[in-house]
Amino acid sequence: MPLIEPFMSRQVLTAPADQTLEQAAQSMTERRVGAVVITRGPSVVGILTERDVLRSVARGLVPWSTSLDVCMTHDPVSIAPGTEALVASRLMFEGGFRHLPVLEEGRLVGILSLRDLWRATEAERILQAKEEERRRLAAEIHDGVSQELISIGYRLKACERLVGRDELGALQELAAANELVDHALKDVRVAINALRPSPVDELGMIPAIQALARRTFGPEVEVVLAASLDARVTSEMEGALYRIIQEVLNNVRRHAGARRVTVRIEPGDDRLSIRLTDDGKGFDLEMYRRSRPESSFGLMGIAERVERLGGRLHIQSEVGTGTSVEVVVPLPGTPTGRNDPS
Ligand SMILES: Nc1ncnc2c1ncn2[C@@H]1O[C@H](COP(=O)(O)OP(=O)(O)OP(=O)(O)O)[C@@H](O)[C@H]1O
Ligand SMILES: [Mg+2]
Repeated sequence: MPLIEPFMSRQVLTAPADQTLEQAAQSMTERRVGAVVITRGPSVVGILTERDVLRSVARGLVPWSTSLDVCMTHDPVSIAPGTEALVASRLMFEGGFRHLPVLEEGRLVGILSLRDLWRATEAERILQAKEEERRRLAAEIHDGVSQELISIGYRLKACERLVGRDELGALQELAAANELVDHALKDVRVAINALRPSPVDELGMIPAIQALARRTFGPEVEVVLAASLDARVTSEMEGALYRIIQEVLNNVRRHAGARRVTVRIEPGDDRLSIRLTDDGKGFDLEMYRRSRPESSFGLMGIAERVERLGGRLHIQSEVGTGTSVEVVVPLPGTPTGRNDPS
């Protein structure tokens, strides 16, 4: 389990409790951070986030000249650098915190944001996925290719014994060995395919999604793909979008029990919109937000990828009706030139 320490930020913006909201907001903007930790002498007494400022000042509830004492969250929950990312994640989600001060023996040593946490849990997930993939491949190679090589060895030995004595028998052993070689080759190809990072680069985005949909669902699920791409979509974006679509489709397969899934990819003037809709059983989003299951990272991973692309994510779900996941990402200003006719 990763600890939060490598992911938290050690550059913490602090402010004394008697500073005004205006001063704090200004320093947050200048330093481009989402929170300021409020101190009194050496102790942490509160935290104020950009959101708090927006809520109180922008809505006209308090004037800019108010001191931080009034608006900050007093005695905020804090964590230690040795906290596990998963524990921190539960704490933040349950409490609805976007930032937490990190204290070591009462001393402020950093600040942890949701974004840092996503990085930590994503790193862990990648690690776990890699381990899992290795185990699977080892098993596949052991059960497939190595068994076949052993059989090929037997056949060739038998052939060796028969040469010069029983020509026909020897030929039969050779033919059997040849057939096993074909099998082994096929198994090796499958294993190599599984090792390849993402099919997008090789197939192109849309065929890769088609192949993914075919692999994910059986004939009982109808997949409708209405997609067109745009020359401005970079291969990095494609990779991220493919992973997002992969997770959404996997969720549909595992949780929805849907009969029909629609994947729509639509480029606009300056943005690309992707919408995946299923007619499955849906789920209670509010409940998920309140108490995200400890083992669920898929939606969080999607949110993180979307954030990295500078886009927005909108999930709608209704129990009994289905789920729709929409991702809208900005397109880079200039064409990438990959499909650029000029
Ligand atoms: N299309 C869907 N239909 C019904 N329920 C869904 C759908 N997508 C997500 N869910 C619900 O939301 C939960 C969270 O999904 P998420 O992808 O984050 O985690 P997960 O699929 O349970 O685990 P993993 O970390 O392997 O993705 C799921 O457990 C499921 O209950
Ligand atoms: Mg999932």
